Amino acid sequence: MKRKGHRISMLTAYDFPTAQLLDEALIDCILVGDSLGMVVQGKTTTVPVTVEEMIYHGEMVSRATKRAMVIVDLPFPVGQLGVVHTVTTAAEIMKKTQCHAVKMEGGHLQSDSIRALVDAGIPTIAHIGLRPQSVHALGGYRVQRDNDQLMTDALAAEKAGAFAVLIECVPEELAKKVTDAIQVPTIGIGAGAGCDGQVLVTNDMLGWNSGYVPKFVRKFADLRTEALNAVRQYRESVSSGEFPGSAESLK
Ligand code: KIV
Repeated sequence: MKRKGHRISMLTAYDFPTAQLLDEALIDCILVGDSLGMVVQGKTTTVPVTVEEMIYHGEMVSRATKRAMVIVDLPFPVGQLGVVHTVTTAAEIMKKTQCHAVKMEGGHLQSDSIRALVDAGIPTIAHIGLRPQSVHALGGYRVQRDNDQLMTDALAAEKAGAFAVLIECVPEELAKKVTDAIQVPTIGIGAGAGCDGQVLVTNDMLGWNSGYVPKFVRKFADLRTEALNAVRQYRESVSSGEFPGSAESLK
C-alpha cells in the first residue's frame, strides 16, 4: 500500500462486536491495543495490563474479524525482558489469539527483540515516539521532539525487520521525515498527515468515553451522548409504566 500511495487505516478494538463493525467498514488493520487498560478497565496508564488480558481480548477480536489484519500489543514489560522471553510470550499470544502480528514499544534499544520475533515468524510493528508503557520515564504523555532519537529508532526497527513503524505524538514535520527515510509504512497517531497510515483509539473517535480526549483526535460521532439519552428515555419509560407497550408484550 505504501508503494502504491494508498493510505492505511487502523483502529483499535477490544471486543467481538467492535471488531465485527470495523471489519465490515473495511478498516485495514485492527489493533488490540494495551490502551484497553485505560479505555476498558478505567486505569490511568497501560502499565498494569497483563499478557492474559491481551489474550482474552485478542481472541475475541480475531474471532470476529474476517478480512482485516489483527495486531495484538505486547504488554509491559514483555518486550524488555530479553529475546527468549519476548519470543515465548509473543508466540503464546499468537497461538491463543490467532492474531496476524504483534506490536511492541521500542526501536533501537529493542532491535534484538524485534529481530528475534521476525526470525521466529512473528510479524512485528515497532511503536516509537511517545511510548505509553514508558510514561513515567518520559515524564508524562508529552509530544516527542527528539529528531535523532526518532530517526535512530525508526531505522533500527526497519533494519531489524519490523514490517511497519507506529509513530505516536510527534510533530508532523518530523514524522514525515521518518516516513520518507524508511521503506516500510509508518502509521501515525498524533503524528500528522505525512504518515503512510493513521490509527486512533476507536472509543475516542466514536465519542464513546467521558474522559480526556487528546487534541489530535477527531470525534467522528458522539455515541456517549446518544447512549446517555437512550438510557434516560428507557428509565423514564420504565418508571412511568409506558414500557413495555403491547407490541413488546408476549401474548
Ligand atoms: O495501545 C494502543 O491502543 C496503541 C495506540 C494508541 C496506537 O498503542
